[in-house]
Amino acid sequence: MSSTAITDSPAPWLRDNCPCDTCRDPRNGQKLFQITDLPPGLAVGSVREVPGATGAGWEVVWEPDGHRSLYPADWLDAHAPTGGARGTGGDGRTEADKELWAAADLAGRLPDASWDAYVGDRAVRIHALESVRRLGFVLLREVPRRDRMVLDVAETFGFVRRTNYGELFEVRVEPDPNNLAFTGALITPHTDNPYRDPVPTVQLLHCLRNEARGGDSGLVDGFHAAALLRREDPRAFDVLTRVPVEFSFTDARTELRAQRPLIDVDPLGRIREVRFNNRSIGTLHESAPVLAEFYAAYRRFGELLLRPALRLDFRLAPGDCLIFDNTRLLHARTAFAESGARHLQGAYADLDGLGSALAVLRRDGAAA
Ligand code: OGA
Ligand code: ZN
Ligand code: ZN
Repeated sequence: MSSTAITDSPAPWLRDNCPCDTCRDPRNGQKLFQITDLPPGLAVGSVREVPGATGAGWEVVWEPDGHRSLYPADWLDAHAPTGGARGTGGDGRTEADKELWAAADLAGRLPDASWDAYVGDRAVRIHALESVRRLGFVLLREVPRRDRMVLDVAETFGFVRRTNYGELFEVRVEPDPNNLAFTGALITPHTDNPYRDPVPTVQLLHCLRNEARGGDSGLVDGFHAAALLRREDPRAFDVLTRVPVEFSFTDARTELRAQRPLIDVDPLGRIREVRFNNRSIGTLHESAPVLAEFYAAYRRFGELLLRPALRLDFRLAPGDCLIFDNTRLLHARTAFAESGARHLQGAYADLDGLGSALAVLRRDGAAA
């Protein structure tokens, strides 16, 4: 490495990343200055290579304030904007960092783990959480069939998101259901709660009993479906990324609404979130031509999501707990006989907590 990593870097960027103890609190690494505190006319005054106890580095003396910064060489290697393709990295949420799948891709290799191994073995837990990030889900098996156990499962990787349904929700036949999920009706592929802002990004469904005829589960990779739509009908894809859709939920105590496009893309156009729920989509208020275009595209996407090749079918056994990315996967179930016993407990959590748990498991594993 030469000093060009320093001299080719924009001065405010380099200075903003000064690791010294006056720029960052050494106890927590948090930055101690504001961007507006940097002197006008900031420039690198001098650069020299210095040996260091933990590896070589480069010392910069800044103009006009004489501040000294010491950048480890390996930090510059990893971060300096001189190394070719930069700026296309993501946060792991877009299609760029996923393994998109159709049903046949996962036949015979459902990502799963037994509860005991998940709890007791760091590598198994890392692999399970990684499956949620990469494939959108994991199926934990032999999870104790205890009331409220789904909350303990959520707490292994994150924080329960409490909602108007409570800390958890009971998926079983209710006498006066405020949601079709709480009947024996067939439920077509959907994401949950698109009427919340922010939407819950992780969902858990823990099966306590499943003795009813019917009530089989289905999962569809919404990113894969959206990518197919983009290939088969780019115009429809584009419409679904641009038209805001109102979703709503109302019951005696609650009135929730949120507006988002069905397909969210990042600034580079990569698929980042999908929401789709025929039960809670509201009335759109757009011009007639936009409505006509939207409905054609919405139908097209809906048809795609129903393609049997895309839908992974399986049956939840008592003790199974499905953990999935609710911004990507759509879930479904077949109708079941209301006379049979079927009982799931569901809860919501979030992907940021899951990502943190995974990073800490890896960090601690590397340190061990
Ligand atoms: C739900 C749901 C699926 C099922 O509760 O959100 O979609 O298998 N349930 O009952
Ligand atoms: Zn500094
Ligand atoms: Zn659902």
